[in-house]
Amino acid sequence: MSTLVDGIAELVTNDATCGPGPLGVILDAALVIQDGHVAWVGRAADAPAADERTDLGGRAVIPGFVDSHAHLVFAGDRAAEFEARMSGQPYDGGGITSTVRATRAATDQELRSGLVRLVAEMRAQGTTTVEVKSGYGLTVADEERALRIAAEVTPETTYLGAHVVPIEYVGRAGEYVALVTGEMLQACAPHARWIDVFCEPASAHAFDADAARAVLEAGARAGLGLRVHANQLSLGPGVQLAVELGAASADHCTYLGDADVDALAAGSTVATLLPSIEFSTRSPYPDARRLLAAGVTVALATDCNPGSGYSSSMPFCLALAVREMGMTPAEALWAGTLGGARALRRDDVGQLRVGARADLAVLDAPSYRHLAYRPGVPLARTLEV
Ligand code: NIG
Ligand code: FE
Repeated sequence: MSTLVDGIAELVTNDATCGPGPLGVILDAALVIQDGHVAWVGRAADAPAADERTDLGGRAVIPGFVDSHAHLVFAGDRAAEFEARMSGQPYDGGGITSTVRATRAATDQELRSGLVRLVAEMRAQGTTTVEVKSGYGLTVADEERALRIAAEVTPETTYLGAHVVPIEYVGRAGEYVALVTGEMLQACAPHARWIDVFCEPASAHAFDADAARAVLEAGARAGLGLRVHANQLSLGPGVQLAVELGAASADHCTYLGDADVDALAAGSTVATLLPSIEFSTRSPYPDARRLLAAGVTVALATDCNPGSGYSSSMPFCLALAVREMGMTPAEALWAGTLGGARALRRDDVGQLRVGARADLAVLDAPSYRHLAYRPGVPLARTLEV
């Protein structure tokens, strides 16, 4: 069965062969969707016949957001920690321990319903692909179950046993790294596509360069793709390690030196920026313009988690990227769609070309520019065809 979607005032395809700019914009556009994929795209006046028709009444359509960084399997929240931060308390990752405690105590069903609620919240704001990390279990059984539950909602699952050194291993980080790279990895790898590590020597709770390298190399040997929490709190080794090991993405990139930017520009690692975290931790925003000027591929993602930033909203991230990081509305939209797809090494999402998945977001607005122009307004939703 095929469906013609028309009444599209402005269609963002992210396919430069379809229209001007990297967004490949088509005005007065239409799409034909068949079996969940884009079968035709072009001007409405040229559209072929289809079995059914959906008229969007002059709205804009964009590729569904690709949120390539989120921590959604957890219990409890940390509203009090956020409140303290707003009064000047710095973020150092120490609060993760309290989420680990609550997550270990939760039932599978409690974790599953929290995850499903957050994914629904994301979909209601236009996100069609989401990556989900473990990292609040930090025992073999708790990490394995977080990934098993995450895999129920997305193929983009990431093993983050190396989130922090759990309380029972304080002073014995080497032993914990051995567990993460040994028995825990074996239990988790069957449920994960990716491995990640919080590489941050400036945090007493996270991992230094040697430990991060050991974790990533073990993950690669187990067949997992690599991602890194890098340079979030300081000028650290994470970005250059990510590039050296061929990671798909270096995430945060809040503090970057020239050598970091040069490495990203020369390598194949995407720089994934997470501005909701700078917003919610009162930190300086990453220098997106410097990365773009160097030719680095930039993605935007929410990093939705109960600690450093609890927003599930890609439109909010885009608005911050435009207002606070100097990205144009077009750059921000590309980074939150095709940029996210690049960060996940996917070529079937993040764009609306023939053959891609028909993952559409429709805006209650005539143009994608309204995403940043009307911050906080619920304009975006996914469109089920
Ligand atoms: O990406 N920095 C490490 N991990 C998360 C925060 C997790 C938390 O605070 O609960 C992040 O910011
Ligand atoms: Fe994160």
